[in-house]
Amino acid sequence: MRIAFFDAKSYDMVGFNRYSEGTGMTIKYFETRLNEDTVSMADGYDAVCVFVNDTVNATVVNKLYEMGVKVIALRCAGFNNVDLKACEGKIRVFRVPAYSPHAVAEHAMALLLTINRRIHKAYNRTKDFNFSLDGLTGFDMYGKTVGIFGTGKIGRIFADICHGFGMNVLAYDMYPDHSLNVKYVDLPELFSQSDIIALHCPLNKDNYHIINRETIAMMKEGVYIVNTSRGGMIDTEALIDGIKSKKIGAACLDVYEDEGDMFYTDNSGHIMQDDKLARLLSMPNVIVTSHQAFLTEEALDSIASTTIDNLQKFVSGEPNTQNEVLNG
Ligand code: NAI
Repeated sequence: MRIAFFDAKSYDMVGFNRYSEGTGMTIKYFETRLNEDTVSMADGYDAVCVFVNDTVNATVVNKLYEMGVKVIALRCAGFNNVDLKACEGKIRVFRVPAYSPHAVAEHAMALLLTINRRIHKAYNRTKDFNFSLDGLTGFDMYGKTVGIFGTGKIGRIFADICHGFGMNVLAYDMYPDHSLNVKYVDLPELFSQSDIIALHCPLNKDNYHIINRETIAMMKEGVYIVNTSRGGMIDTEALIDGIKSKKIGAACLDVYEDEGDMFYTDNSGHIMQDDKLARLLSMPNVIVTSHQAFLTEEALDSIASTTIDNLQKFVSGEPNTQNEVLNG
């Protein structure tokens, strides 16, 4: 099997080279992302391996199919960037549903603690021998109410972490799991009762821009928002206005709705063209990381081993229903 691996980074190659050795698979790493302009690079390959910001729309899928690509191996959990309807009956799609939910939940808490206790500011100040504490006041996490949107693999670990801080945990999920130690409420209650709202849900048509002007209006004054799920869950303009009006006290963003052109690349020598992102980055109570919540050694290892295993099972015809992504 020949695999065209798009959006390759050096940290990906370590695990993929290790797990593919001796399997008969050959991997060609392309630094570029898969999209309509680059899809022809997959000509002659049996599989493409893609990540969160590769574009796998109907045009790309049809071109892949015409070129003989039989399988799309997502090396991530989310699959909102793949047109599954277009893949139906043509190309099989597999993903890594869980590689390290701990990595993501821990990053969400790291962002929250950083913004609350102003660690990002303190770090810069002390580097400059400025030991003033003005403007660094945070709040106790203990006793605060967190509202978790999505109590799947990541959301439930985040809930456990929050319990460790002595927080009250509210939750909302399409499919509540009543065995969890959280109080399920409806969305208006989640939005109106939470001091902190954390999004841990896949992006789909039911939750696109779920954080919008109307839902922000329901929230507590000074609410903190944490998003490590997908940028499309937040209407960025409404978020910016909410922060400007001080309705939103802080935002922790590992994902951003237009991240595709920017994240995972070094743009430090360029003029920022995205005015919304530039505005967010200019705000002291906003922290942005570049979709890195997954980035731990354990997660990278698990991503590589599961992706290679998905491809081996595809070749051998072994059932792999847990990791196959189907339309609907
Ligand atoms: P999961 O599939 O285990 O859990 C998702 C939960 O959301 C489920 O309980 C499901 O019932 C619920 N849900 C789905 N649609 C919903 C809706 N419209 N309204 C209410 N609840 C809904 O997923 P997991 O592993 O917890 O991951 C969540 C998301 O986190 C992923 O889909 C992905 O977008 C994001 N993610 C981000 C990473 C990063 O590096 N920033 C890394 C990995 C995942």
